[in-house]
Amino acid sequence: MVRFLLLLPALLLWQCTAPSEQPRISGPNYAGEPIYTGGDRYALTQGTIDLGSKLFNDPRLSIDSSISCASCHKAEAYFSDPGKAKSAGLNGHPTERNASALNNLAWHPYFFAEGGVRTLELSTFVPINNRHEFGRELHDVVVSLNGDLEYKHAFEQAFSQSDITDALFVTAIGHYMASLTNYNSPYDRFLSGDSSALTQHEIDGLDLFNIHCIACHDGAQLSTFEIASNNLPTDADYGRMKITNNPKDSGAFKIPSLRGIALTYPYMHDGSYATLDTVLAAYNSVRQLDLSQRELDQLKAFLNTLH
Ligand code: HEC
Ligand code: HEC
Repeated sequence: MVRFLLLLPALLLWQCTAPSEQPRISGPNYAGEPIYTGGDRYALTQGTIDLGSKLFNDPRLSIDSSISCASCHKAEAYFSDPGKAKSAGLNGHPTERNASALNNLAWHPYFFAEGGVRTLELSTFVPINNRHEFGRELHDVVVSLNGDLEYKHAFEQAFSQSDITDALFVTAIGHYMASLTNYNSPYDRFLSGDSSALTQHEIDGLDLFNIHCIACHDGAQLSTFEIASNNLPTDADYGRMKITNNPKDSGAFKIPSLRGIALTYPYMHDGSYATLDTVLAAYNSVRQLDLSQRELDQLKAFLNTLH
């Protein structure tokens, strides 16, 4: 009893301090400020993130209750779909492209390979509307959530508003995706000043990367986020041209971040490269880099430090 009485003030104090420990989307200095920190309409809290996670993992959002976001974006591989060139959508129908990793998206200026979606919140419309993914209108999903007492309660808890709107729905998923930050790789420790975090072999790879790759894969996310073509042989895909109608943009894509790349195989928009070895061999020949096998190994060793 005495022990409990001693514990009580500590518990009360903990309760009082809890609200100030609300999560914040942030990263190390070298990553700069995130572009998205939750939007200015609704506060990002642990409650909105948890609700977004519940929605992200819920197959009942799809037309036949078979597919959730997590079906194609798997937590254990930076939310990519490892081993699948194309993911399986409704009735096993393959997706058009290889599923992207969802990694530090709060630092990305736009989304999807052709670069057509400007905000993390709006990106939720894409898979919901896709007839091979969720096969639904976003508003219909929201209408059915309003008929679900458990979700009514969860939205009320998270946003202090029990009427579930399209905006609340996409905000919750947006908050969850923004919370998927990762700055724990050996390369991150290296960038933070721990020079022993990389071996000499890996540092040699980093040096080669800085010569041959950073024109496109620069910065803390390993992408300049320009839309470009790397000219590697892949399946035909109009890419950016889908938006601009300009033939010059055919085959140009959002330059992908390389964070976690060891786990997010296979590679490229069509998933046609099974391994980093095949990617590096293709860059070596297409871009005429003239790298030796040892240098290719160094580059690969560096890429493996990104997770
Ligand atoms: C059936 C598989 C599948 C499902 C289900 C799915 N996705 Fe995706 N996702 C993909 C594919 C494939 C891409 C790459 C598409 C492209 O770039 O055109 C992608 C890309 C994305 C991107 C863009 C990432 C970037 O770097 O630009 C976001 C964001 C995203 N998905 C979020 C979601 C959310 C949220 C859900 C659930 C509402 C979801 N996805 C459900 C397959 C799927
Ligand atoms: C001219 C810009 C450019 C240069 C230079 C470049 N890349 Fe890329 N990289 C891209 C683009 C664009 C893609 C996406 C292509 C696609 O999806 O078909 C890509 C994709 C990749 C991928 C696959 C990513 C994924 O998630 O599927 C890897 C790995 C990669 N690059 C590594 C490298 C390495 C290593 C170098 C240096 C040897 C390099 N890149 C140089 C633009 C470039």
